[in-house]
Amino acid sequence: MSIRDIDASGKRVFVRCDFNVPQDESGAITDDSRIVAALPTIQALLDVDASVILASHLGRPEGHDEKWTLKPVAQRLSELLGQEVQLAPDCVGAEVEEMATALTQRGILLLENVRFHEEETTNDPGFAQQLASLAEIYVNDAFGSAHRAHASTEGIAHHLPAVAGLLMLKEIEFLGKALENPKSPFVAILGGAKVKDKIRVIENLLPKVDALLIGGGMMFTFLKAQGLEIGKSLLDAENVAFAKKVLDAHLDKIVLPPDVVVTPVLAEDAHAKVVRLDQIPEDYIGADIGPEAQLQFGERIRAASTVVWNGPMGVFELKPFSGGTRAVAAAMAECDGLTVVGGGDTAAAVEHFGLTDRMNHVSTGGGASLEFMEGKVLPGIAALETK
Ligand code: 3PG
Repeated sequence: MSIRDIDASGKRVFVRCDFNVPQDESGAITDDSRIVAALPTIQALLDVDASVILASHLGRPEGHDEKWTLKPVAQRLSELLGQEVQLAPDCVGAEVEEMATALTQRGILLLENVRFHEEETTNDPGFAQQLASLAEIYVNDAFGSAHRAHASTEGIAHHLPAVAGLLMLKEIEFLGKALENPKSPFVAILGGAKVKDKIRVIENLLPKVDALLIGGGMMFTFLKAQGLEIGKSLLDAENVAFAKKVLDAHLDKIVLPPDVVVTPVLAEDAHAKVVRLDQIPEDYIGADIGPEAQLQFGERIRAASTVVWNGPMGVFELKPFSGGTRAVAAAMAECDGLTVVGGGDTAAAVEHFGLTDRMNHVSTGGGASLEFMEGKVLPGIAALETK
């Protein structure tokens, strides 16, 4: 169930968001996408005269640590909403209870970082009860934290009517549609550094996809599994056997790049060159998929009806190795099918190339979207009421 199915008029509503946003040295927010993504739910609740109590974690503090205060989030939220967002000194306790009770209709109170209390991550029932006592309804809009069974993402849901927010709903709808009911041809693209991080995603996706395109650092473990020399490229030695097993069983579906960009060093001014897969020099590092691979991957992506992408194709932050990731993002932007981008690094890459608006959905979850792609039931979602 979601906020669309309940009557929150005039009620005090506890909304768990994922405001775990990147910050620079001075604490300034460098990417506010997660805050912007939470606005529709907050606005919908304000529109029915609810009093909105927002909660989130930020970073992984041990105890109360001002470095991880939600002050910059309160400020950004209030700019975006055009109204005051009060920041509570804590997330539980007498003073916070008073502030929550005194909150007027259409008022917004942001609780301080829930991870200032270790009871948050241990999912302490007493702590969850204290959080719940602040409100009459619980809304979970923190898809990015849905893989965590913490007090404010899971425990609290056992004490209040618990429903999904609009962002949570959108994430479940898009990721669900792409993974559970994909229209064929279904193409998945996986990249990133290690095979280890993607094993369960590969296992879950292979029976469903028509093609699995592999790039990024993890491709070299697959090349090694085929008996090729990979020079100084990344190798996930423990998973060569897994890669071999998967290649043997699904050679018809797995697409490896025919060429790669290699370099002696990972630097902006590196002397990079393109080589065939079986010609990676001994003292070179593979850092991106090559131009022929870009064309092949691009063709498959543009012709697909469903595309899911998780993990950059190369070291896209450095210009000489950004071509593969850019080409995949551009092909997805041109694809007429359903295009879904997993969060974290992949979302950052799409944003880096200015193509976020050209995708059907870019997830706000990093670890959460990965676990969703693994086919896992996320505890933050499982705790919500179903119709
Ligand atoms: C994320 O950024 O992936 C989420 O906010 C979860 O954060 P965590 O890994 O610290 O639990």
